[in-house]
Amino acid sequence: MKSIKIGNSNWKASAIALGIMRMNVLDSNKAVEVIETAYKNGINFIDTADIYDLGKSDEVFGEALKKSSLTRDNFYIQSKGGIINNNGKSKSFPEGLRYDFSKKHIIESVEGSLKRLKTDYLDSFLLHRPDTLMEVEQIAEAFDELETSGKVRHFGVSNFNPEQYKLVQSGINQKLMINQLQFSIMHTGMIDFGIHTNMTDNGSISHDGSILEFSRRKNITIQAWSPFQYGFFDGTFINNEKFPELNQKLKQLGDKYDVGKNAIATAWILKHPANMQVILGTMNPKHIEDSAAGGDVVLTNQEWYDVYFAAGNDLP
Ligand SMILES: NC(=O)c1ccc[n+]([C@@H]2O[C@H](COP(=O)([O-])OP(=O)(O)OC[C@H]3O[C@@H](n4cnc5c(N)ncnc54)[C@H](OP(=O)(O)O)[C@@H]3O)[C@@H](O)[C@H]2O)c1
Repeated sequence: MKSIKIGNSNWKASAIALGIMRMNVLDSNKAVEVIETAYKNGINFIDTADIYDLGKSDEVFGEALKKSSLTRDNFYIQSKGGIINNNGKSKSFPEGLRYDFSKKHIIESVEGSLKRLKTDYLDSFLLHRPDTLMEVEQIAEAFDELETSGKVRHFGVSNFNPEQYKLVQSGINQKLMINQLQFSIMHTGMIDFGIHTNMTDNGSISHDGSILEFSRRKNITIQAWSPFQYGFFDGTFINNEKFPELNQKLKQLGDKYDVGKNAIATAWILKHPANMQVILGTMNPKHIEDSAAGGDVVLTNQEWYDVYFAAGNDLP
């Protein structure tokens, strides 16, 4: 598994990470198997968020890590906060649905995650989705407090466009090193826009303000979430009969490199020189192993474009 440098720091982590959004449904024995499989296959980075089943995913992971043969030091652990999505379900989030970047909420989010994850620090903390009511001074105070207390080591954002990134960065003391964005073979808006510049077709529409180029110039690590999904959680494109051409291409390249389709899908993301990190969401040990194998596959430029075409894209 190759490792990548996070942001402009000396922090190196596995290029493929395990997201635990879907860990809420596992019992602790199954969760132990999942994290041990991930670690055995070179994954040393965990991504979570306070809202994943209102903290249940964190709890399952915290229990599993304690029960497993691994320790806190084996993983970098990242969480995200800033979304309140209660739907009336949780006493710890008594309010409704909103984004909230207030100092109080950011600090409470981190402290809640630490408790559930059974750890006393996060390696990184991201603002989950841009809160249009954000006051940067509140974020700055929260980040200073979290850094000084040793509760959070690095900071970043998620689903931010360049101007939103610059707005927050301009008022805080820490460098924002990470931006987590949806990106996969079937979700390529941030690439299509660059390829179709100045055309009048759909690909030419900017959905994110050139976030890819901005991140490259500023040395911000893009973390690609949902690497196997199409749409917004519509399902996986792998072995999905809706995408015969793409699956044929993934199979053909998988045979060439002696790996499965998941590996080609992760290798496709890692091939991009933006130096992205892939955040897997599979909770199936076999799929984790297959996906991690992509960390050792280097596609040729032609193969990269051929996969892009097989997903239904073209070049002007
Ligand atoms: N920042 C954000 O706003 C944001 C949003 C969403 C997610 N995330 C992060 O990104 C992580 C990944 O998201 P995700 O779970 O949507 O990503 P994903 O890895 O693209 O999707 C995982 C889903 O695809 C299925 N899958 C994968 N390979 C398969 C195969 N070969 N055959 C059949 N099914 C397959 C998995 O089922 P199996 O478990 O059965 O393999 C699982 O249901 C999350 O855990 C979270 O940490 C961040």
